[in-house]
Amino acid sequence: MATFSRVKTADGSATVFHPVVGEHYHSIHGAQTESEHVFLNSGLIPFFEAHGLSDGKVLEVGFGTGLNAWLTAELAKRRSWKLDYWGLEPFPLPVDMLSPLIENDSTWAPILEQWPTIEQLELGNYFRLHVPNVGLEKSEPWALPVDLIYYDAFSPTHQPEMWTTERLGFLNAWTKPGTVLVTYCIRGHIRRSLHELGWTTKKMPGAPGKREMLWAEKTA
Ligand SMILES: C[S@@+](CC[C@H](N)C(=O)[O-])C[C@H]1O[C@@H](n2cnc3c(N)ncnc32)[C@H](O)[C@@H]1O
Repeated sequence: MATFSRVKTADGSATVFHPVVGEHYHSIHGAQTESEHVFLNSGLIPFFEAHGLSDGKVLEVGFGTGLNAWLTAELAKRRSWKLDYWGLEPFPLPVDMLSPLIENDSTWAPILEQWPTIEQLELGNYFRLHVPNVGLEKSEPWALPVDLIYYDAFSPTHQPEMWTTERLGFLNAWTKPGTVLVTYCIRGHIRRSLHELGWTTKKMPGAPGKREMLWAEKTA
C-alpha cells in the first residue's frame, strides 16, 4: 500500500509526498522558502503593515503538514500580532507527518495530543488555532469574515475541482470587502473565476521555481 513520506526540499526544510494525489505538499525548491514568500511576505505582513493591524483572522484552505500555520504563529509571536487561524483539512495527515517544526516545539504539544480535530487551541499568547476536518465546500458553518486567505490546495493538475469558479465561490462566506487572498498558483482560468466572484487580482513574483504567484483582494 502506498504511504506518505517525508521529503527534504532544496532549502533543507521538510515536505510530504502524497502517494495518491501524486504531489508534494510544498515546492521541492524549498518548502519553508515558498511558504514564507507566498503567504507571509506577500500576504500577511504587507496586509498588516498597510492597515496598521495588531490582530486579525486568517483562513488557510488546506492545513496539510501545518508548516504555514507554524510559520505564521512564529511571525505573530515576533510581531506581537494576535491571530485567529482556521486551517481547513478534510483529509488530515497521520500525526507523524505533521511538520517537524511542530513536532519539536513544546508550545505545539497539545496539537499532537488532540490531532486531527482541533476545535480551538491557544498556542502561546498570540495564536489561536482551529482545524475543522471539513473541505472548503462544507465549511460554511464555521465561516466568518477573515482578513487573509491562504489558498493552498493541491495544484489544478492534481486537484482541478479546487480551482473552479464554483469551488472558489465557497470562499464568499469567509470574506468581507478588503479580504486578501494569496496563492502560489497563477493560471488564467483561476484569475477569470476570481474576477467573476468579485476579486481584483494582480500577479506578483513567485517563490523559487515559479515566475509568478497570485494576489487578490475582494472588492465586490
Ligand atoms: C498543498 S497541501 C497544503 C499544504 C499546507 N498548507 C502545509 O502548510 O503543509 C493541500 C491540502 O489541501 C487539502 N485539501 C484537499 N481537499 C480539500 C478541500 N476540499 N478543502 C480544503 N482543503 C483540502 C489536502 O488534504 C492537503 O492537506
